[in-house]
This record gives sequence, C-alpha cells and structure tokens, in this order.
Amino acid sequence: MRFSLPLFPEAASAVANQVDSLYFFLVGISVFFSVLIAGLVIYFGVKYHRKSDSDTMPKAATGGVALEIAWSVIPLAISMVIFFWSASIFFTINRPPDDALEVYVVAKQWMWKLQHMEGQREINELHIPLGRAVRLRMTSEDVIHSFYVPVFRVKQDVLPGRYTQLWFHPTKPGKYHLFCAEYCGTKHSGMIGWVYVMEPADYQAWLSGGAGEGSLASRGEQLFQSLACINCHKEDGSGRGPMLVDLFGKTVEIEGGKPVVVDEAYLRESILTPQAKIAKGFQPIMPTFQGLVTEDQLLQLIEYIKSKGKKK
Ligand code: CUA
Repeated sequence: MRFSLPLFPEAASAVANQVDSLYFFLVGISVFFSVLIAGLVIYFGVKYHRKSDSDTMPKAATGGVALEIAWSVIPLAISMVIFFWSASIFFTINRPPDDALEVYVVAKQWMWKLQHMEGQREINELHIPLGRAVRLRMTSEDVIHSFYVPVFRVKQDVLPGRYTQLWFHPTKPGKYHLFCAEYCGTKHSGMIGWVYVMEPADYQAWLSGGAGEGSLASRGEQLFQSLACINCHKEDGSGRGPMLVDLFGKTVEIEGGKPVVVDEAYLRESILTPQAKIAKGFQPIMPTFQGLVTEDQLLQLIEYIKSKGKKK
C-alpha cells in the first residue's frame, strides 16, 4: 500500500497503480486549478475593490492574443495528456492476455455463481492463483449487475443476454472484497463476496480438493447428449446440423447474411435463437432451447464446443 489513507483500498493488481496514478493526477489538476481560481478571485477582489465613491471604473481590456492562445493551448495540452493516458489504461483493462485463466461468472438476484474450467463451482467466492492473469466471462440470469473488486481497480457491468468480460492480474495474496456495483433490487447491498488470491501451490491444492462433477467441458458433453444435440450435430459431419468439431474461432458463412466468427456470443445465440443466423447449407430446423437450459448450462455447452478443437 503506497498510501495509508484509511478509506483508500490497497492496490493488488497489475493495473491498480496505473489507475491510481491517473486518479491522483486528475485530483491534483483539479485541486491546483480550484485553488488558483479561488485564490485569484479573492486576491483581485481585495486588490481592485472600489475604495471610494469617486473611484472611476477602469477601461475594460479588449483583445490579448497571447493570453487567449495561452488559455487555449494549456488546457488543450492538459486534456490531451489526460485523454491519451486514460485511453492507454482503458486499452490495458480491456485486452486480456491470451494465456489468462478463464472463469465463468453468472450473476443473479442476489448472488455470484462462479465456475472454473476444471469443474469447481463457487458462490460469492472466487479462488485464483497469484501471479497469473484471470479473465472472467460474465452474464446475468435476470437484471444488470456489476462485478467490482476495488483492490484490483476494475469494474464491469454484467448483463442479461450478453457476455461481458473482465480481467486482472493479481499481484498480492490475500482475501479481498467483491461487490455488486449496480443497484439490482432489494438485496443488492448483500450481493457481496470474497476473492481469494492464493499462492500457486495452495491454489493447486484447492483445485484438487473440489470438482467431483467433472470439468465444465465434460458436463457440457453430458448435456449435449441428454439434450439430444448429438442427433443432428454429428462428429463425422453427416448430421442435419453443422459439425461442431474444430468450429470455435472459425468464420462461418450465414444464409442471407454476413459471415460471423464463431465465438461465445454466437454459440449462445445459436442455442437460444437458432433461427437468428443459419449456417450456410443447413435448414432452419433446430428448435430453440430458450428456457430449457440455464445460463450455467449454456456456459458448459459452449465450453464443450470449445473443447472440440480450435483452442484460441
Ligand atoms: Cu447485483 Cu447489485
């Protein structure tokens, strides 16, 4: 912790100090100009106040090219510094590294459900290893929530019907607050939890402790069979639906539309509203699975399809 301000959260992610520096710069600039302007108002008020009834008004100054250039160029320079500085941090916060550890998050009134690739599931708790980037892929079962871990200085809305992502690189082991930062109903204030950043060895021990139900992908595979997806999406490509092997990450042709890249959002849409984008050469015969699969199960199915090759 660089500052011992009691209300200021400690910094426990790679980007936290960058965010803080920008924040303190903004505060510094604001304080500087507030003090300067307030000071000048008082100073000029005292210096030029009307001393007697016979005081005449001085002639109003007109023009002053140098002054006008100064008060245009200096603020421009300052705002450009703020713009490029914050844009660079914005890009950092929005671009997870490819080797990030992936965790799925499903929010609902009023809890956080987290699923690890290996199969561990947690509620209102997230266990992650120290020193490795973590990418959360998040969605909501009901209303808008917001995943917020102050010590990491990252916050992201979690929306129904869409996947959003958030990533951070924890730099300190510890137990940290997790908040919902979007008012989401009666018990919004209780939608809180903990993030545990563990030493890698402890994390491995924790990982091997739980699971039991198999990895996300393997649970997706079971669903794939029990929902009878496998009857049409055959592995040898002879089915009535597209073959899903090696599909993830590819660009596919769409009947009467623009080609799309097969990503999580496209897979989700294709399961819930199959008629939205029909792969070229196939009939629109797939029934919708809206209401039949939960958000958690959707993620398992997606993870299963991802596991069938073409890892990004
Ligand atoms: Cu969920 Cu506020």
